Amino acid sequence: MPIAIAIDGPASSGKGTVARAVAHLLGYRYVDTGAMYRAVALVARQHEVSWDDGPTLGKLAAGLRFDFAWDEDVLRVWVDGRDLTRDIRQDGMSMGASSVSRHPEVRTALLGLQQGLGAQGGVVMDGRDIGTVVLPHAQLKVYLDASLDERARRRHEEMVRRGEVVHYDDVRAAMEIRDRQDATRDVAPLRVADDAVVVDTSDLAVPAVVRRIRDLAAERGA
Ligand code: DC
Repeated sequence: MPIAIAIDGPASSGKGTVARAVAHLLGYRYVDTGAMYRAVALVARQHEVSWDDGPTLGKLAAGLRFDFAWDEDVLRVWVDGRDLTRDIRQDGMSMGASSVSRHPEVRTALLGLQQGLGAQGGVVMDGRDIGTVVLPHAQLKVYLDASLDERARRRHEEMVRRGEVVHYDDVRAAMEIRDRQDATRDVAPLRVADDAVVVDTSDLAVPAVVRRIRDLAAERGA
């Protein structure tokens, strides 16, 4: 039976890579909810809407049409027909997404869409509040974690690979601020769901994490 798998955790804990691989193995759909918050931040910037203006951001988010599709190994994201795949990954949009996601109006606007995508099962969804708020009845909830140093190292490496000139210390500092913001906000903060399995990926390679989640999924009926 196709089940719903929720994968939460802080920045660069490996959620995206692992969720994608698990979805591929099981033939499930992968839903990247962070991409939606990133898109709201980007479109707000383009419309000169402040990341602090919850009510206006909420209206903006509610009016967006999202389309997702796989292209080779990349999840392409279209918003109102525009391909924003690359632009939402710009570094500024990480903090932008974190900022717009603090507002209840924005979360409410995206919640129905996310729950709709998860309703039929056969889905791996990653984010910060999937196991706690979006899919509280998911048959499998995983919380991926890793030390701040290791996560910053991964993010730094990824940015350097993309040709960006950044210092590790700056990447680490920005990540720490973002995680604190995500974990301390009033609505749907990042936290471990009571029934989640916590997996520390600091010393685990991606294939090992994927196998562990696949085994857990099999135990839960996938
Ligand atoms: O997973 P990501 O780095 O693409 O997410 C970007 C930001 O979006 C993250 O810092 C907080 C927010 N977010 C959220 O609040 N809830 C989610 N389910 C997913 C992301």
